[in-house]
Amino acid sequence: HDERTFVMVKPDGVQRGLIGEIVSRFEDRGLKLVAGKFMRIDEELAHEHYGEHEGKPFFDGLVEFITSGPVFAMVWEGADATRQVRKMMGETDPAESAPGTIRGDYGLDLGQNVIHGSDHEDEGANEREIDLFFDEEELVDYERSD
Ligand code: CMP
Repeated sequence: HDERTFVMVKPDGVQRGLIGEIVSRFEDRGLKLVAGKFMRIDEELAHEHYGEHEGKPFFDGLVEFITSGPVFAMVWEGADATRQVRKMMGETDPAESAPGTIRGDYGLDLGQNVIHGSDHEDEGANEREIDLFFDEEELVDYERSD
């Protein structure tokens, strides 16, 4: 069934000019882009988005990094989109990611791992993250040809 998933090119990915490459990979796979926003994440949004990691040793560094420069936030739609995107991204740690995945091909380290996608094992993460970054009218409905 079709579902929507939240994806974001992180500040390191933007800095390194990887937005186009990453968007191309999802387009080529047949996923449909329904929203996109080039923006800067402020402290408050960072705390909301990464709330589940609050208190962990890497939390402060994570907030500092994600607010350090612009990100490209997106919503992609397709069959089993969350799981497909996760597979294309690779593991959280680029060192564990297979070549051919986004992090396996471009990732530097666990913190600077190029891209974020909603966790498919976290029920409701998609909806929560889409709501956090986008207003309803920013999600665009249209037909995509294959
Ligand atoms: P992301 O999928 O955006 O979700 C949380 C992020 O925390 C994760 O990607 C990593 O970039 C970052 N992170 C930094 N250190 C760690 C760590 N030790 N364990 C897990 N995630 C980490």
